[in-house]
Amino acid sequence: MPTLLRRALDAAFGHPRGVAGRMGGSIMAFGNREQERAAIGLAALSSGEVVLIIGHGPGVGMALAAEAVSPNGHVIGVDPSPLMRAMAAERCVQWIRSGDLEVRPGSAENTSCANESIDAAISVNNVMLWDRPAGFADIHRVLRPGGRLVVTVHRHVLDFRPARLREEAEAAGFVNVRLSIGQPVELVAWRLQ
Ligand SMILES: C[S@@+](CC[C@H](N)C(=O)[O-])C[C@H]1O[C@@H](n2cnc3c(N)ncnc32)[C@H](O)[C@@H]1O
Repeated sequence: MPTLLRRALDAAFGHPRGVAGRMGGSIMAFGNREQERAAIGLAALSSGEVVLIIGHGPGVGMALAAEAVSPNGHVIGVDPSPLMRAMAAERCVQWIRSGDLEVRPGSAENTSCANESIDAAISVNNVMLWDRPAGFADIHRVLRPGGRLVVTVHRHVLDFRPARLREEAEAAGFVNVRLSIGQPVELVAWRLQ
């Protein structure tokens, strides 16, 4: 792919910033909504749970997660892009005001969550941007025993064999790893009880 195009796509979607990032955020909010909804479904959230949303982008999945764990649940979103954090905060303003949701700087590799504090972690369309061994390790650290991880990603954005996701999750300690190599690729994995 030509370098200029790669840079433009990165500014819109990979590490959203500036005008391209704002346009990318609007496109993702519209185009990935059903994928975000399906990921929330795979996580089988219930009221009162604590959910970590990794690389939330414009925040569609965070709002859906907040509805799913209400009442008494809590949603933490981490994303390295200040622009995406601002767009997500705008979208989720009512949940932030009620204290049920927070948006924090962070990444898969460095979620800054406490050990064993999360019931479910969800990542949609960002696993290709991680340092994956570090990302899987940090998510495993923050999940409570018995907690689960859901990763979904458009197959065409992966530049590695999708089966590697299972190998890398297992190497980090996840068990009962279920991988579906369709469009999108979906992984559900558990921290040992
Ligand atoms: C393609 S967007 C996906 C956003 C949203 N989940 C969706 O599917 O519409 C990728 C997002 O991942 C974030 N990101 C980039 N590197 C990351 C990392 N190492 N860990 C977590 N998120 C990352 C970006 O800032 C961006 O918001």
